[in-house]
Amino acid sequence: MGSHDGMEKLQLDDLVSWFDRYVEPYLVTDDEGVKNIRLKIEHTRKVCEVMALLSAGENLSENESRIAAATALLHDVGRFPQYRRWRTFRDSISDNHARLAIEVIREENILDGLDQAEQLLIEEAVRFHNLLAPPARIQSPTRRYINMIRDADKLDIWRLFVELVRQAPEERASAATLGLPDIPGLASGQCIAALNSGAVVPLDTIDCFNDFKLLLISWVYDLSCTTSRRILRERGYITELAATLPEQSDIREAVAKALAAISA
Ligand SMILES: [Fe+2]
Repeated sequence: MGSHDGMEKLQLDDLVSWFDRYVEPYLVTDDEGVKNIRLKIEHTRKVCEVMALLSAGENLSENESRIAAATALLHDVGRFPQYRRWRTFRDSISDNHARLAIEVIREENILDGLDQAEQLLIEEAVRFHNLLAPPARIQSPTRRYINMIRDADKLDIWRLFVELVRQAPEERASAATLGLPDIPGLASGQCIAALNSGAVVPLDTIDCFNDFKLLLISWVYDLSCTTSRRILRERGYITELAATLPEQSDIREAVAKALAAISA
């Protein structure tokens, strides 16, 4: 009973109401759990907002925008069962949350009313949204949705960490800095060098919170859409993150390059 005109507005509305119903029981838990689940609900909402901006900026049709919106809404649904089962959002010590998201989508049969081709687009974008680099063999049109969800996700993760660095260290939630020591003045030479070379800073070279900020800044080199670079520029996330890094010339130089990479 799939629609031949592609995903309808009503079908997207149904997905949004499904999401609201789906997350509700996960909020029935202890205070720390509620805080963490709320964080993911808020993240999903913000990623949906960014995705709408990307869809407009990249001139998607209404139908394509709805597929992109569904991708944004569903990309992190695996986070909820992940947190309930393991009490963590760290995939490395639990399970791949993108894989878990596909399980949720299938168990809940929420895409059943859509065309097969659209189901596949949404599932593939969700499945590959968190890979370090999406598989090269995947071609358009799937590629486009994968690129967009990866950009939208990054834009909201920047927001989260900019909000975090605005807080005094003693106000931050204990898990907020990912267990990394936050030592002012400390940043690893190899992370600075990686950023300066125009590459994404490798995760396994991160030793402290400033290294992680360098990694966040290096994501400018992993954005796909022109619109994402514009939003990032307008929101000033890179400048704000960089302002909390140690004052040293090699960092200043690497950051200037990163800012140049997103300038119009
Ligand atoms: Fe996400």
